[in-house]
Amino acid sequence: MVQLDEDKLHSFVGKMLGDLGGAFSVPTVRVGLRLGLFDALHRVGPVTPADLAVAAGGLNERYVREWALAQAANGYIDYDSGSQMFTLSPEQAMVFVNKDSPVYLEGAFDLVAAMIEGEPKVERAFRTGAGVRWGDSAGCLFCATGAFFRPGYVNNIVQTWLPALQGVEEKLEAGAKVADVGCGVGFSTILMAQAYPNASFIGYDFHEPSIEEANSHAKAHGVGDRVRFVAATAKDIRDTDFDLVTSFDCLHDMGDPRGCADNMRRMLKKDGTWMIVEPIAGDRPEDNMNPVGRLYYNASTMICVPTSLDQEVGEGLGAQAGEAKLTEVIRSGGFDQVRRAFTGPFNMVLEARLSA
Ligand SMILES: C[S@@+](CC[C@H](N)C(=O)[O-])C[C@H]1O[C@@H](n2cnc3c(N)ncnc32)[C@H](O)[C@@H]1O
Repeated sequence: MVQLDEDKLHSFVGKMLGDLGGAFSVPTVRVGLRLGLFDALHRVGPVTPADLAVAAGGLNERYVREWALAQAANGYIDYDSGSQMFTLSPEQAMVFVNKDSPVYLEGAFDLVAAMIEGEPKVERAFRTGAGVRWGDSAGCLFCATGAFFRPGYVNNIVQTWLPALQGVEEKLEAGAKVADVGCGVGFSTILMAQAYPNASFIGYDFHEPSIEEANSHAKAHGVGDRVRFVAATAKDIRDTDFDLVTSFDCLHDMGDPRGCADNMRRMLKKDGTWMIVEPIAGDRPEDNMNPVGRLYYNASTMICVPTSLDQEVGEGLGAQAGEAKLTEVIRSGGFDQVRRAFTGPFNMVLEARLSA
């Protein structure tokens, strides 16, 4: 008979309670975001549930009261027992209201929902070893992914990531030709186009609905004249003479990242740069047993590995491949200068070039 360590059991169950609380909050947070409850609370709080229901456009008071109590129990809004009113603190607003804040998390909650929707297909793939096509596992995996990464891009691409590359900012200011490969719904491409009005941009992605959405984003942001989006698989793009190629959070999703690296070298001018933004990760699994690695390993199981295994070669790098493995893949495409240009809490930026 195995002896249980009661202390260990209690602390493990305590951890599970916290984790399940987070999981249980996913639907109520998403409902609150879609119905504008966090926004309304931010505008009119401190407020009673009845007034919050009115401020959110005339919702049912009983539902809003239960929702507010749930969010207060989550610690996502504050409850004052004296006045029985609810408020949203400035810090909570950074997560639930301010869309350009680096920690705005609507996309993260949407991504959880997309992963749950994708469960049956991924579960089947565990048995067969087949992949799951990007976009097939859930109706809006691609929009959730765009929304998940957007806050990081809004606060980093122009401010820190591009300036960390050798001589790239100057080229962009003068008017560089840029390809954003694996651009998804195009937030990264459009942000760069807005910051560098003399440069021209082409975003490529093999998922046609993402390309359609990216094209309509470009029009809506008034950059349609300098930005276009094209449906293409990374290793099959035939355009050349780029000063800069960027790949944001997508190399590890590709079936043939080495074939992609080889094509990125062909697409670039001799003195061009390939910027590869990838999830932060250490080289050994034990380096990634932390809260960020936890998010990425789970997303990688449900999204990144199935996406890669669905494609030609099926390398299946996974979202926690780490710098050493990524560098080896990038070098296999003929880049002889690869360095880590920037390290953030969620991403690393690799710079790949050719010797003169
Ligand atoms: C995690 S998403 C990142 C999208 C976008 N860069 C962003 O950060 O929002 C990965 C993207 O890689 C694209 N992708 C995967 N394999 C591809 C391939 N072989 N060629 C082109 N795009 C690919 C997917 O369609 C998807 O848009």
